[in-house]
Amino acid sequence: MIDKNLPRAVKQVVIPPIKCQGIKTKLVKFILGSICWDGRGRWIEPFLGSGVVLFNVQPQRALINDINPYIIQLYQMLYNRNLSPEQVRKYLTAEGKKLFLKGEEYYYLVRERFNKSGDPLDFIFLNRSCFNGIIRFNSKGEFNVPFCRKPDRFRPAYITKIVNQISQIYKIMQGKQWEFRIGDWRECLQDVTADDFVYLDPPYIGRHTDYYQQWSENDAAELARVAQNLPCGFALSMWKENKYRCNQHIANYWGGLAERTFHHFYHVGSTENLRNSMEEALLIKPGYEAVFIETPRRVKPAQLVLTLHG
Ligand SMILES: C[S@@+](CC[C@H](N)C(=O)[O-])C[C@H]1O[C@@H](n2cnc3c(N)ncnc32)[C@H](O)[C@@H]1O
Repeated sequence: MIDKNLPRAVKQVVIPPIKCQGIKTKLVKFILGSICWDGRGRWIEPFLGSGVVLFNVQPQRALINDINPYIIQLYQMLYNRNLSPEQVRKYLTAEGKKLFLKGEEYYYLVRERFNKSGDPLDFIFLNRSCFNGIIRFNSKGEFNVPFCRKPDRFRPAYITKIVNQISQIYKIMQGKQWEFRIGDWRECLQDVTADDFVYLDPPYIGRHTDYYQQWSENDAAELARVAQNLPCGFALSMWKENKYRCNQHIANYWGGLAERTFHHFYHVGSTENLRNSMEEALLIKPGYEAVFIETPRRVKPAQLVLTLHG
């Protein structure tokens, strides 16, 4: 039984079946170790994305929102038990076979089909076989990411990996009181109560031209104003600094909050040397910040011997 309160040390991060830009998989331990919340109200995520933070917090009550309808519809179907992990396995096995036989042409056929019907199973197929696992829609709202160019993408081991990810969140959702909404973050933050906790992870300002990811300086300023008037605790994820720039938006709009930072490296291209570093910030309403709880590391046998003899 998981203690539902935060901060919490996460040993094994739950990986969601959907990938998206700005996914916080690498930051989950840091986020859950930095927030202080008693778990009494609802966990509110107006910008759900892949859901990786939600699936690791595993709150009893939640309000889950995103402007992208496909993410929410898929998770809502799993939550309502209208879609099972076994149905996903069957679908991916059949469609993966067709992709293998027909190649790239089949990926584009599924993409066209999805853009007409919005089928959640096709959404999984595209998300897990498109280039770089990104979600991007053109100005007409059509999914337009190209193929990853691997016709054998859905090999049995890969299908099992996806189905296991679905099974895991399927179990986590069981018995929870979660409300799903498709829409703008403003509506989602209208009926917040003092016991709730709001986790905010909006898109980067001005970075995307994508249909569901547009985020202007005005949106960002309005979010800062609304968040700071919330009756409950909140935390906001935002990049702080990279090799070239420091994010001025933090100083301009989010002053007076507690700040926790996390430093990580990412690779540019395929070479090990081409590493860029990035500092991520978690800005927390004062009174809701925790002393960071680090996940205990597993001691390797060699280290253990050294410790014993030392
Ligand atoms: C940075 S991503 C969230 C990533 C997520 N925390 C994760 O770890 O996967 C931002 C999300 O905000 C959603 N979004 C963009 N504009 C929005 C709006 N006006 N209202 C609600 N959601 C929005 C996007 O569809 C996207 O899923």
